[in-house]
Amino acid sequence: MASLLNGVCSVLLFIALFTCFQSGNLLSMEFQVGEDNGWAVPSSKDRHYYNEWAAKNRFKVNDTIRFKYKKDSVLAVSEDEYSQCHSAHPIFFSNNGDTVYTLDRPGSFYFISGVAEHCQRGLKMITKVLELEMLPPPQNGTITSPHKNGAPDLAAVSSSNFAMVIVLSLFGVLMV
Ligand SMILES: *[C@@H]1O[C@H](CO)[C@@H](O)[C@H](O)[C@H]1NC(C)=O
Ligand SMILES: *[C@@H]1O[C@H](CO)[C@@H](O)[C@H](O)[C@H]1NC(C)=O
Repeated sequence: MASLLNGVCSVLLFIALFTCFQSGNLLSMEFQVGEDNGWAVPSSKDRHYYNEWAAKNRFKVNDTIRFKYKKDSVLAVSEDEYSQCHSAHPIFFSNNGDTVYTLDRPGSFYFISGVAEHCQRGLKMITKVLELEMLPPPQNGTITSPHKNGAPDLAAVSSSNFAMVIVLSLFGVLMV
C-alpha cells in the first residue's frame, strides 16, 4: 500500500515538474516594486528611485511585479504618455492597493501613478524585460551553431529540460 502511494507520488512529481519545465513557469519570479517602500512618491532628492530600482533588477518574460500602495494607482502607458505623466486611455489601470502585473513580453513597460503630481514627483518607472534571458550571449565563432545568425536553439533547451525531468523522476523512483 505504501509503495503504491509512493509510486503515485512519483508520477505526480513527474507531471508537475514536466509541466513547470515545459512552461518555463518554474523560473518566473515576483518582484515587489520599490521593495519595502512600495509604490509611493519618493523623496525629492531621490526622484529617480523607481528607475534605479528597476535598473538593478533583471526581469524575464512572465515575471510579475507587485505594486503596493495606499490611495494611489498604477497605469501602464505608452512611452509618450510616460514622458507627459498623463494618459487618457492607459493600457492598464488599477487602484486596488495591491496590483500584480505580468511582464508578458520582452521590451519596455512604462508605468505611472494616476495622480498627476505624484507622477511628476517621481512615481513612475520604466521596466525593461530582456529577451531570452536564460540563454548565454551569442559568441562570435567560438560555438558552431547550425542556426543562422546565432538563433537560439530552443529545441535543445527544452530537450535538456526534459532530460532533467527524467533524471529527477528516476531519482524519485529509486527513493521508493
Ligand atoms: C508566458 O506565459 C504564457 C501564458 O502562460 C505562455 O504561453 C508563454 O509561453 C510564457 N512565455 C515564457 C517565455 O515563459
Ligand atoms: C564577428 O564575426 C563577424 C563575421 O564573421 C566579423 O565580421 C566580426 O568582426 C566579428 N566580431 C567580433 C567582435 O569578433
